[in-house]
Amino acid sequence: MALDRPGTAPRNDLSAFWMPFTANRQFKQAPRMFVSADGMYYKTSEGREVLDGTAGLWCCNAGHNRPRIVEAIRQQAGELDYAPAFQMGHPKAFELASRLRDMAPEPFEHVFFTNSGSESVETALKIALAYHRARGDAGRTRLIGRERGYHGVNFGGISVGGIVNNRKAFGTLLTGVDHLPHTHLPEDHAFTRGQPDAGAYLADDLERIVALHGAETIAAVIVEPMAGSTGVLMPPKGYLEKLREITTKHGILLIFDEVITGFGRLGSSFAAAHFNVMPDLITCAKGLTNGVVPMGAVLATAQIHDAFMTGPEHMIELFHGYTYSGNPLASAAGIATLDTYAEEGLFERAAELAPYWEEGLHSLRDCPHVIDIRNMGLIGAVELEPIAGAPTKRAFQAFLDGYEKGILVRTTGDIIAMSPPLIIEKSHIDQLFGTLREVLCALD
Ligand SMILES: Cc1ncc(COP(=O)(O)O)c(C=O)c1O
Repeated sequence: MALDRPGTAPRNDLSAFWMPFTANRQFKQAPRMFVSADGMYYKTSEGREVLDGTAGLWCCNAGHNRPRIVEAIRQQAGELDYAPAFQMGHPKAFELASRLRDMAPEPFEHVFFTNSGSESVETALKIALAYHRARGDAGRTRLIGRERGYHGVNFGGISVGGIVNNRKAFGTLLTGVDHLPHTHLPEDHAFTRGQPDAGAYLADDLERIVALHGAETIAAVIVEPMAGSTGVLMPPKGYLEKLREITTKHGILLIFDEVITGFGRLGSSFAAAHFNVMPDLITCAKGLTNGVVPMGAVLATAQIHDAFMTGPEHMIELFHGYTYSGNPLASAAGIATLDTYAEEGLFERAAELAPYWEEGLHSLRDCPHVIDIRNMGLIGAVELEPIAGAPTKRAFQAFLDGYEKGILVRTTGDIIAMSPPLIIEKSHIDQLFGTLREVLCALD
């Protein structure tokens, strides 16, 4: 084969692909391969069906192999494969932006396209900094994140993020960043269904940070309205409202990172609508295209956007963008995805199924090693007591055993997280939690 190195036989093994966020050596000794997917199920290379308990990576909210989405991508590839993203346009990107605007809560009028959640985060942070500068407030350069926050893996995102392993190997990160405390109070919150009562006061720590640095130096606060990747942490009642109040009081922008919570996960379009707390910027990705083609977006209020629309009209207003911003295939997939959500009422369906999901999840409370269970919308987490001296091992074993028994779950630390496609049926919920019970009961 022309592409092989001269003098070597063609190779197709597992060594070349350095897999992301994966225990590469473990995986390559016992690979887990999906070769197809349909509806709620993946199929493995051995021909086994695996129930998708995680919507891929929190992204396939409409399930797999959805005809409208598949057909839209096929058609788009044959019609307009690529159009330059800078100084040129194509109709589908405008259509998708308009559709997103119409779906989002009212203050969000404008959409900036990216290719991932990580890029959406970088984009939102940069828009926040540039917004203040555009208004003559260039001293606002500090960014405030939160402990245990996950905002993707680029430098801005890991700087404001608070997951230690995602930060510690990567040097000094961005300067001028501070962190709020995380919102998990195990003693008060364990086994709470939905939002915990205690903990709104944790938002008051922002006042301490403001007093320490001076409000006039702070550009933005970024949080996940419900923290997903760290292991599903709910915002205590009143917490997000307080954050909004304090940021507004001090002229600080509030960014909600909705890469997981967007597109129906909590039973509403976005968490901002679900909690009725409006930030200034929303980041999203994943469910925007059902995970099928990479795409992300930042939603901005008119106030933010309009601050940039000054100066000579031939000048670029924001020096930022990606070669694939609003890519035609991604735009076509996004439109078809939003159509699918609307036609099948999937956000409402998530809200309707949430009580059944909650009951099933909390029925696992009596399983061995379970120290907490948390849920909201179609998200659930089961936290296990770590094995002494071997943190993460017990939950990872549960993940492996679950896969062998036909369910896909995710683990972070010793937390098992689940976030199924919103097309899930009650029988699938029974299968997921029934199998997880067997797995948990057999764990060391
Ligand atoms: C809240 C949040 N922000 C950002 C990201 C990063 O998204 P991506 O992996 O598409 O870069 C994720 C991914 O899980 C996320 O959950």
